[in-house]
Amino acid sequence: MKFFIDTANLDEIRQAYDLGVLDGVTTNPSLMAKEGITGDKNIKNHYKAICDIVDNNVSAEVIATDYEGIIKEGEELAKIDDKIVVKVPMIKEGVKAIKYFSDKGIRTNCTLIFSAGQALLAAKAGASYVSPFIGRLDDISHDGLTLIEQIVQIYDNYGFDTEILAASVRHTMHLIQCAEIGADVATCPLNVITSLLNHPLTDKGLAQFLADHKKGNK
Ligand code: E4P
Repeated sequence: MKFFIDTANLDEIRQAYDLGVLDGVTTNPSLMAKEGITGDKNIKNHYKAICDIVDNNVSAEVIATDYEGIIKEGEELAKIDDKIVVKVPMIKEGVKAIKYFSDKGIRTNCTLIFSAGQALLAAKAGASYVSPFIGRLDDISHDGLTLIEQIVQIYDNYGFDTEILAASVRHTMHLIQCAEIGADVATCPLNVITSLLNHPLTDKGLAQFLADHKKGNK
């Protein structure tokens, strides 16, 4: 399973990368705005700065919603670095654009996926990744993990190459259950990744080992 970090914060990206387990980064316009990154030039420079930290897979989202606009913006984003994956919303114009990018060898991440039908359509169009938003489904009392199960089954049935990127991951159980179900990737905030480290018996056991070592080496 690949781990992506879901942030535009460079310090958090560095921390996750330094842990040695990071496979990529997802951003969205809200995450960029949260970091105060505005204006075309600053946004592109920021994507470049992210690409300079990680080895691959930096999702950069288009703002345009018309076909020509998505193509223009996506091609500009893809030129920033080979690590860029163009993030395109699940709308009619977006699906057409994903097909175009796929034919051109430009990788895409189809975002704002909330149903199995949307995931099927994105895969048919040739998306490299689909991003089902599990936390936002849970927020409205729909089971986000059931959606991941459905997509895993559909993609397995037909051998689609599109990778399932579980997004809107809110806590460690989301991440662990996505791994059990077989999502290819999970994108999470830094604290979800680092929370996987925690177990009180690990802390207790280590304290005991260190205390016993100290006693035996007086
Ligand atoms: C990532 O690709 C998504 O944009 C992100 O996971 C959405 O997360 P949120 O629902 O916590 O905003």
